[in-house]
Amino acid sequence: MTTFNFRVASEDDLDFISRLSARVFSKYGTYDEIVLGWLQEPEVITVIIAADTKPLGFAMVTLQRENWFEPRRAHLLAIGIFPKQQRKGIGTALLEHMEEIARKYGAAEMLLWTAVDNQQALSFFHNADFHIVGSADRYYPRGQAALALAKELF
Ligand SMILES: CC(C)(COP(=O)(O)OP(=O)(O)OC[C@H]1O[C@@H](n2cnc3c(N)ncnc32)[C@H](O)[C@@H]1OP(=O)(O)O)[C@@H](O)C(=O)NCCC(=O)NCCS
Repeated sequence: MTTFNFRVASEDDLDFISRLSARVFSKYGTYDEIVLGWLQEPEVITVIIAADTKPLGFAMVTLQRENWFEPRRAHLLAIGIFPKQQRKGIGTALLEHMEEIARKYGAAEMLLWTAVDNQQALSFFHNADFHIVGSADRYYPRGQAALALAKELF
């Protein structure tokens, strides 16, 4: 059985993240560039899931705090698994790892946006106990609508 490992993304992962984003997110916008911009932001945590050293996917989360007296809310900015490696439980392992990071920072909830037409992502997040909490027309740079999903972490 393959065992996965997790590591915080480094400079060496930029090419992998950009290529994978182009592959799985370009329908929605120039995410190969957008994601690299997020990667540079200090509040964004980017994690690579790998088999040995071979990267299989990545995810990005921010941990926002609107007021000092309120718990943080985790915002999952992106999660992507290399197409040949999809549907093997790798996305679930990575999502659970990101939820664990969010809990460690005290986040009570995880939020994300995903496209209305992204059936695989909607099934994936539904399977992981996320529920729909909102929607936005023309959310993506290429004009697609999105759904907001949320999950309580405690
Ligand atoms: C969404 C994504 C991250 C899921 O990763 P994954 O490793 O393939 O997911 P898993 O194998 O852990 O799947 C867990 C469950 O999610 C659901 N699921 C995942 N992919 C699915 C698909 N293509 N069709 C239907 N259900 C799917 C199933 O319930 C699956 O359980 P099962 O295989 O036992 O039936 C991956 O498909 C991906 O990278 N997609 C492109 C990028 C993207 O859309 N990201 C999400 C928006 S940011």
